[in-house]
Amino acid sequence: MRLNDKVAVISGGARGMGAAEAKLFASEGCNVIIGDILEEESLETASEIRKNGGKCTFLKLDVRKEKDWENLVSYAIEEYGKIDILVNNAGLTTDGHVETLSLDEWNRIMDVNVTGVFLGCKHVLPSMSSAKRGSIINISSQLGFVGAGSSNPAYQASKGAVRILTKNIAVRYASYNVRCNSVHPGPVDTPMTETARSDKEFLARLIDKIPMGRIGRPKEVAWAVLYLASDESSYVTGIELLVDGGWVAQ
Ligand SMILES: NC(=O)c1ccc[n+]([C@@H]2O[C@H](COP(=O)([O-])OP(=O)(O)OC[C@H]3O[C@@H](n4cnc5c(N)ncnc54)[C@H](O)[C@@H]3O)[C@@H](O)[C@H]2O)c1
Repeated sequence: MRLNDKVAVISGGARGMGAAEAKLFASEGCNVIIGDILEEESLETASEIRKNGGKCTFLKLDVRKEKDWENLVSYAIEEYGKIDILVNNAGLTTDGHVETLSLDEWNRIMDVNVTGVFLGCKHVLPSMSSAKRGSIINISSQLGFVGAGSSNPAYQASKGAVRILTKNIAVRYASYNVRCNSVHPGPVDTPMTETARSDKEFLARLIDKIPMGRIGRPKEVAWAVLYLASDESSYVTGIELLVDGGWVAQ
């Protein structure tokens, strides 16, 4: 199994891509800890994993709160003695353009999508660097690469910030054998995109921009994250792995 006896923390693992990663990791022998604000959905995901023979626990985590990260890391170290993998997956988006976006809304997106990633890395890195082993995967977006007029500017800026924060950590911690990479999904079939996907005209315009002619499935992103989490990527750090059906290639 590709993650046998490893310990992974997945933020935003209640649903969507985070849940797909949690399920895939558990099926590869990993002890998964889901951290999320959605208690009911997280418990359902964790119980489904356990029913299928996997190992998964849920801890309440608001990625914006330093105390929550401290509690989660303490729990993982007490329970398993280590954290091998951190997937900073929690994120959210909103509507609006530069001129219509309120400062509060800008800050709300930045707090989860950037500060949440920073705090996750900050609190997991001490145990990873002292163990001289670890893999951090930060979920950015293809919208952290290229502009899209229909996308929210705070979301795009936040995903660009995650892309370069990842490289700072990759370079700083390479000598500790701690790797840090970013994954950049294109549009994926998750609750986040449900409203957009229900607008048939918008969906048709979106699909028209994707060379592969379809949106992605959560598991297709999870497979990419699994590669970066596993020892198969032991010499890979600081990369940007696009999983976008060719969006950024054109
Ligand atoms: N769906 C897409 O098309 C797409 C494309 C590119 C990138 N992404 C990114 O992928 C990641 C996962 O997105 P998804 O589509 O699965 O979204 P989703 O909305 O289905 O799931 C996001 C999860 O993050 C959790 N979350 C939100 N705020 C949180 C907080 N403060 N603390 C802890 N957890 C919190 C939610 O409760 C939810 O479980 C996000 O970072 C998103 O920006 C999504």
